[in-house]
Amino acid sequence: MPSAVPDRALATPLRDALGVAGYTVGAVDDLLGAAAGAALHRHETAPALRRTTDGSPLATLVRLFLLQTSVRREHADAALPGLVEPLVAGGLLLASAGEVRAVLDCRPYADDSRDWWVVSDLTPGLDGRPIRVAADHVLGVTPASTSLAQLTTRDEVARALDLGTGCGIQSLHLSSHARKVVATDVNPRALAITDLNAALNRIEVETRAGSLWDPVAGERFDVVTCNPPFVISPATDRDPLVYRDSGLPGDQVVETIVRGATSCLADGGWCHVVANWAIHEDQAWDERVGRWLPADCDALVVQREVLDPSAYVELWLKDAGRHGGPGYLEAYDAWLGWFEQQGIAGIGFGWVNLRRGGSARELLDHPYAVEQPVASAVGEWATAQHAEVDERSRLSLRVDVVQETRGDPGAEHPETIVLRQRRGLCRARRVDTVEAALAGASDGELTVGQILEALSVLLERDRDELTAAYLPAVRSLVRQGFLALS
Ligand SMILES: C[S@@+](CC[C@H](N)C(=O)[O-])C[C@H]1O[C@@H](n2cnc3c(N)ncnc32)[C@H](O)[C@@H]1O
Repeated sequence: MPSAVPDRALATPLRDALGVAGYTVGAVDDLLGAAAGAALHRHETAPALRRTTDGSPLATLVRLFLLQTSVRREHADAALPGLVEPLVAGGLLLASAGEVRAVLDCRPYADDSRDWWVVSDLTPGLDGRPIRVAADHVLGVTPASTSLAQLTTRDEVARALDLGTGCGIQSLHLSSHARKVVATDVNPRALAITDLNAALNRIEVETRAGSLWDPVAGERFDVVTCNPPFVISPATDRDPLVYRDSGLPGDQVVETIVRGATSCLADGGWCHVVANWAIHEDQAWDERVGRWLPADCDALVVQREVLDPSAYVELWLKDAGRHGGPGYLEAYDAWLGWFEQQGIAGIGFGWVNLRRGGSARELLDHPYAVEQPVASAVGEWATAQHAEVDERSRLSLRVDVVQETRGDPGAEHPETIVLRQRRGLCRARRVDTVEAALAGASDGELTVGQILEALSVLLERDRDELTAAYLPAVRSLVRQGFLALS
């Protein structure tokens, strides 16, 4: 159950102790090994418990915070010298009868170039224990958090906003490339934990209480990141969880965030949102989400996954620990009935990327693997939408693009030709022989016009007709990142 959040004053001694213990992602991975680490990802602690028995400070911290088990008081004192009592008083630890256990989670976290520590509420449901989550539970780092972190531009900027900060995970990343970071939330515990995490990692984050765009009305940001409470439900639940239930019905919270982004983005500023949206029986997903997009923003929306209503309801009832509990079937039935009533046939999960200052649109159904972090591909997408391409342009085929052909063995012509990117968004595009030849000949030296001229001779086709037919395809190959201006 949620507890008080330790005062920021404890951050410095805690940081020092975690540092001395060598409590880093790499050290924890080495200590646990691959199999016990994988088991822990599945919320099973038994293999990791067997590998953390030596009483060393590192093993003690892993047992306390990652495995949520009691440790002997003398081991806790060795790992957190002089800090056990203050951390008990501050609400991070609980001590009794010569043993100490954690009340909050505290774990190392890293990207390619930085190491951090992140405090959050404990992970519910380890080892099949019943999941009990309080209304103001503050999530740790989740797959949606890392998805958003990998989507977010890392350009150096002046001002960044972390809307719905939770434990402040996006703020940690933002602090590495934004001179000012503002983090907002409606949950005071989330703001207190973000404050603590900022101090623990020696970064500056200004926390503000308030809903959605309210706390930053009238301000402009160069980057906004948001992993909102996006669970799509009738919003009539008597026990909403603030990290996932916005209180607004359906996907209105996502619509409100997307529609409102333009008023808080600086020119050229990016807003990245990970979200769910409802897919209605009588409307294509991209048509519906497309209506939310601000007119003065470039928008790349990528649908990564679609769940059917029952799979979705099961997922989120289990997340709240209601599977097998009293009222489970009734809650499941009511939620499904509401989906039916609304005409919701599926739920999409994906990314909304908005860049203020253009009006290019792409809504892409793309459940395939992408190269992570995908942020640079999103940035390149925006640049490509504004590339001016005509017959005088010199284009280059992106170096990672390969051509795949398929057809009967020995046949003179392939049945299908596909251009495939091996980097970035990893798109695949079916092309005809002319497009394939155009792409292949785009070496950065010849102009589009020269290539079309040569092809018209080779194929014995009228040059103007070939140009009219294929210039749009060339532009589309540029917008999709297969070709780039030299
Ligand atoms: C899914 S968590 C995301 C936490 C974190 N940003 C991340 O990426 O993991 C959603 C966060 O939004 C907050 N939240 C809920 N309703 C909100 C609202 N109306 N306005 C702002 N934040 C809200 C929750 O308290 C929670 O911290």
